[in-house]
Amino acid sequence: MHIASTHRPRALALFTALLCLSVAVSALDIDITDVDSIKSAASKTAYGSMTWYSGNETGQIPGAFPDKWWEGAALFTSLLLYWHYTGDSTYNPQVRQGMQHQAGNGDYMPSNYSSWIGNDDQMFWGLAAMTAAEIKLPDVDGGYSWLALAQGVFNTQVDRWDTENCGGGLRWQIYNYEAGYTMKNTISNAGLFQLAARLARYTDNSTYAEWANKVWDWCVSSPLLNNETWNVADSTNIEDSCSTQGNTQWTYNYGAFLMGAAYMYNYTEKAVWKTAVDGLLNATINGFFPTKYGGNIMQEICEPSEACNNNEILFRGLVTGWLGFTALIVPSTYDTILPKLQGSAVAAAKSCSGMSNNTCGVQWYKSEWDGWVGMEEQIIATDVLSSVLIMQDNVSAPVTSTTGGNSTSDPSAGTSDKTTSAAELSEITTGDRVGAVVVTVAFAGGWLALMGWMVMGG
Ligand SMILES: *[C@@H]1O[C@H](CO)[C@@H](O)[C@H](O)[C@H]1NC(C)=O
Ligand SMILES: *[C@@H]1O[C@H](CO)[C@@H](O)[C@H](O)[C@H]1NC(C)=O
Ligand SMILES: *[C@@H]1O[C@H](CO)[C@@H](O)[C@H](O)[C@H]1NC(C)=O
Ligand SMILES: *[C@@H]1O[C@H](CO)[C@@H](O)[C@H](O)[C@H]1NC(C)=O
Ligand SMILES: *[C@@H]1O[C@H](CO)[C@@H](O)[C@H](O)[C@H]1NC(C)=O
Ligand SMILES: *[C@@H]1O[C@H](CO)[C@@H](O)[C@H](O)[C@H]1NC(C)=O
Ligand SMILES: *[C@@H]1O[C@H](CO)[C@@H](O)[C@H](O)[C@H]1NC(C)=O
Ligand SMILES: *[C@@H]1O[C@H](CO)[C@@H](O)[C@H](O)[C@H]1NC(C)=O
Ligand SMILES: *[C@@H]1O[C@H](CO)[C@@H](O)[C@H](O)[C@H]1NC(C)=O
Repeated sequence: MHIASTHRPRALALFTALLCLSVAVSALDIDITDVDSIKSAASKTAYGSMTWYSGNETGQIPGAFPDKWWEGAALFTSLLLYWHYTGDSTYNPQVRQGMQHQAGNGDYMPSNYSSWIGNDDQMFWGLAAMTAAEIKLPDVDGGYSWLALAQGVFNTQVDRWDTENCGGGLRWQIYNYEAGYTMKNTISNAGLFQLAARLARYTDNSTYAEWANKVWDWCVSSPLLNNETWNVADSTNIEDSCSTQGNTQWTYNYGAFLMGAAYMYNYTEKAVWKTAVDGLLNATINGFFPTKYGGNIMQEICEPSEACNNNEILFRGLVTGWLGFTALIVPSTYDTILPKLQGSAVAAAKSCSGMSNNTCGVQWYKSEWDGWVGMEEQIIATDVLSSVLIMQDNVSAPVTSTTGGNSTSDPSAGTSDKTTSAAELSEITTGDRVGAVVVTVAFAGGWLALMGWMVMGG
């Protein structure tokens, strides 16, 4: 993941004050018992997210987000969930086009970006493709099937499994010139775990389940995942043989494991996975739904100090989507999860009262617009407003190849596209390479600095 280290301009307090007068007409006040009011609010936040997207316009590049490539996966995932839960297919053509155009050779390593992609960046596109398959977005004729794209990401990632350091695990970054290359971080590994678990359930191919177990066991053996306290750390480093942890608490690290464990439980029905689901869900609730705001509104650690960067803003959106699917495939969690999604959806909707046009904010717990503006804010509101619609009686759980999913399987997807070696990369024009590396170092440097600051400060 590549981190924009600059923060967006802060709110104009005066502007905010003036807008208080008009908030009543532009707020997205939803009635949490009324499906139509929630769908209507979601349609406004989805529309707002797409005002930041021009990839479908003539002369533009579908799915391209220069400097924040992975965010395309976050946008398209939110629009997939929006379609799944509301039935409104308005954005499906743009989603299909963008997700195909960025596919590279069928594994989400497109050459414009591949020299500085991190394992987590690629993984989020793989999970988006998996979601498309699981909610029955029809495959694109003559394109890559959604399932094959997820398989392509899986195949290229397991090929990078690094047994030479710390006994296993994926590094954060793929190439040694990327800052963060010596780190093994949770999201890369929990993401691969989740992808493997979802592929196992969809295809019923035991190879994927074996990999899910392998990734999980390595994480438990490392400082990243504690399977007794259910603490989920953020990262560890091969420079000290993975003996220490960066323990900043982020929602998406918990959510990525929780979702994968839910799939493994649904697929295997083994008690060990139920224990993991319950423990991780409990830890997620205890850690990120502060009781001082009623205990049902999700909060990221960076919010009170208004220090969230674009990536960090997106984490809660990803997690609300994962909570929704978890509730559907592990029905015993439904009654616990629904109030968390409801409280968060109501608060998120109230945050979407900015600029007289439903601009959404970052800090849901404030239950009003906080002056922040961005595609990311619109995306996460769409995620939670869509996912809370698990409350509908007729909602469909993610399918498998035996319960209605027909995305075409290609177990060897991506295997012709081995991770490019450093030598091969020299073929990329010098200008491209240097530019990309500088960008990466600057971003990752900001990320490390911020993490250090949060660890010290928190
Ligand atoms: C809302 O208004 C602001 C200020 O005019 C503009 O920058 C933004 O793009 C608008 N958002 C939407 C969703 O129309
Ligand atoms: C691109 O998508 C937007 C909706 O997000 C739509 O309003 C616009 O007409 C589309 N443009 C083209 C050229 O299809
Ligand atoms: C890569 O960049 C070229 C030149 O800008 C563009 O035509 C192409 O669509 C881009 N591909 C992707 C996957 O973004
Ligand atoms: C935690 O992991 C260890 C090592 O794999 C295993 O022996 C133990 O049973 C696990 N505990 C739980 C609660 O799953
Ligand atoms: C859930 O969290 C509570 C409060 O921390 C704790 O008492 C309880 O044992 C936890 N339950 C599980 C299943 O982990
Ligand atoms: C697995 O998910 C399905 C929904 O697809 C659900 O009906 C079923 O009860 C789940 N199985 C378990 C063991 O939770
Ligand atoms: C599901 O139910 C909602 C009302 O709760 C309705 O608006 C929607 O059309 C239904 N969807 C399907 C696929 O039947
Ligand atoms: C897969 O199912 C979808 C409907 O869910 C349908 O539109 C599509 O034609 C099917 N594809 C194949 C190859 O059967
Ligand atoms: C299962 O997946 C593995 C790993 O991709 C692959 O090698 C194998 O051919 C697959 N088996 C089947 C029956 O599809």
